Amino acid sequence: MMKRTHYTTQLGVEQAGQDVVICGWVDTRRDHGGLIFVDLRDRSGIMQVVFNPEINLDAFHLAESVRGEYVVAAAGKLRLRPDETINPNIQTGQVEIYVDKMEVLNSSKTPPFYIEDGINVDELLRLKYRYLDLRRPEMQKIMMLRHRVVKEIRDYLDENGFMDLETPILMKSSPEGARDYLVPSRVHPGSFYALPQSPQIFKQLLMVAGFDRYFQIARCFRDEDLRADRQPEFTQLDMEMSFVDEEDIFGLVEEMMARLFQAGMGRIINTPFPRLTYAECMARFGSDKPDLRFGLEIVDVTDILGNSDFKVFSGAVAAGGVVRAINAKGCGEKFSRREIDDLGRLAIEYGARGMAWIVVTENELKSPITKFLKEDQIKGLLDRMQAEAGDLIIFGADSTEMVCRVLGFMRLELARRLELRHDEELNFLWVTDFPLLEWDDEEKRYVAVHHMFTSPKLEDIDAMEAEPAKTRARAYDLVLNGTEVGGGSLRIYQRSLQERMFSLVGMTMEDAREKFGYLMDAFEYGTPPHGGIAFGIDRLVMLMAGRDSIRDVIAFPKTQSAACPMTEAPSKVSLRQLRELSLKIREEKA
Ligand code: AMO
Ligand code: AMP
Repeated sequence: MMKRTHYTTQLGVEQAGQDVVICGWVDTRRDHGGLIFVDLRDRSGIMQVVFNPEINLDAFHLAESVRGEYVVAAAGKLRLRPDETINPNIQTGQVEIYVDKMEVLNSSKTPPFYIEDGINVDELLRLKYRYLDLRRPEMQKIMMLRHRVVKEIRDYLDENGFMDLETPILMKSSPEGARDYLVPSRVHPGSFYALPQSPQIFKQLLMVAGFDRYFQIARCFRDEDLRADRQPEFTQLDMEMSFVDEEDIFGLVEEMMARLFQAGMGRIINTPFPRLTYAECMARFGSDKPDLRFGLEIVDVTDILGNSDFKVFSGAVAAGGVVRAINAKGCGEKFSRREIDDLGRLAIEYGARGMAWIVVTENELKSPITKFLKEDQIKGLLDRMQAEAGDLIIFGADSTEMVCRVLGFMRLELARRLELRHDEELNFLWVTDFPLLEWDDEEKRYVAVHHMFTSPKLEDIDAMEAEPAKTRARAYDLVLNGTEVGGGSLRIYQRSLQERMFSLVGMTMEDAREKFGYLMDAFEYGTPPHGGIAFGIDRLVMLMAGRDSIRDVIAFPKTQSAACPMTEAPSKVSLRQLRELSLKIREEKA
């Protein structure tokens, strides 16, 4: 077999005249004027190779036989193309290879879709033939970007004293948040391992062990309902540090992000990143991961309209709720009545009972509700909303929670309609001071908002039991353009506080000891204060690559139903396998 001398894009004007060998896939073949032109593709790009019967008749005949996706090695002289045939669209467009020897290394059936960028093909088909899908230049670029990002992470963290340590994949089940994936044990019939939802407890134990700074590119498994930015198995950059506070962690992460975006996208990221508390995010943007690339802030007008004659508003406030509004700048002019009604229907889909609105024009207000409002209420409202002619003001009146939720969605919807979100803008934000606990209506108990190992804010610890819902956590998320790319916290590191936390989420001490006894024991042997964070590598790369789905940045992802169309996992297993595991599948009733 001929040995490759270059990747295609390593060849340019400077190498003209050299004898070279390239290897790759036939992208296209064009026969004309007694010459055959083949575009040969490798992972770096494309090169035009030319077959001239006068140079080598055998190679020419061989070239006549090759078709798309055949694998070939081509040897010949690299030549400058004549001026009129230069192709400015490809990197190697100024040169071509005049082939004097070719080997066909393998043939190919006709692929089920074109191996080119921007194909419009059902994703199931792409996933069934993922190895062909990945052969497309845009997918090759994404996977290279992913490699570059992970490599840069490892370099940066190594330079900063972090150790890359592995934690178990077969571990003890302790579901909290998502469902566990379980693995039956053969040796211990009736017992199960769980796949890790994250290395959380083990990384804390590595701190107890004195490693001080740990990281891992860790595969995590969560059996939850899937969406475009969620996969049942995904990859975290997981880190933990001892003897640190929030400032240390933020500083280190900001510098790392700047470096990643420089290496991956050639972008300069400004640091430090802005910070907002959870409470402020909810009040102003109706979301704990607000997209700050645009305004459209939510404004409280409860004090102005809460006791108006409009029963929807006064009723909501009387029931303990709020009235809040968004000024959709310019939308009074831009949107037709039908479009406004459309928005209203959407608000109802999101859970609102309606969507009152006011259109401000030069000399009047158009609205179904102004007839209920007094002049000073209207004036106060327009002032508060900084309303001008052409604006549309939309309202939500309900419980604080519902109004935040609905107006948060409306804000994103307005931004979509107004095209306010620009891909090239990169807006990082730290969200801090999350609540420690939230009430779970189904389970009828408090659950941890982040996880049970997150420390309460020191000033809130004393009142934890008295006011669980008001206790704030030393937890933080990193948000990029409205996507949560990372989250972490300072941890509990004393047994007594950990026990209080377990009991707040409704665990008995027996429960806690059975599930997490080993961790609480460890806390009694000199555990340093510690904290950390984990990033969704898939989400980060997705945002860098400008894609809408993390499936596009994972080499072999699963579908929305957690299946792999290529290997057809998950699949049935043999009775013998089941027997070895002491498992029996319950017969479906007919
Ligand atoms: P958390 O659960 O917030 O924290 O996860 C950290 C980050 O992982 C990404 N992520 C996901 N990506 C793809 N598919 C999923 N199903 C998925 N779930 C989460 C998100 C998220 O921000 N142990 C803690 C971290 C810590 O406290 O240090 C943890 O796992 O980008
Ligand atoms: P109604 O009096 O129910 O016809 O409502 C008058 C206007 O108020 C309509 O535009 C409704 O969409 C709107 N509306 C009704 N309920 C709410 C609510 N909870 N929050 C905001 N607007 C509402």
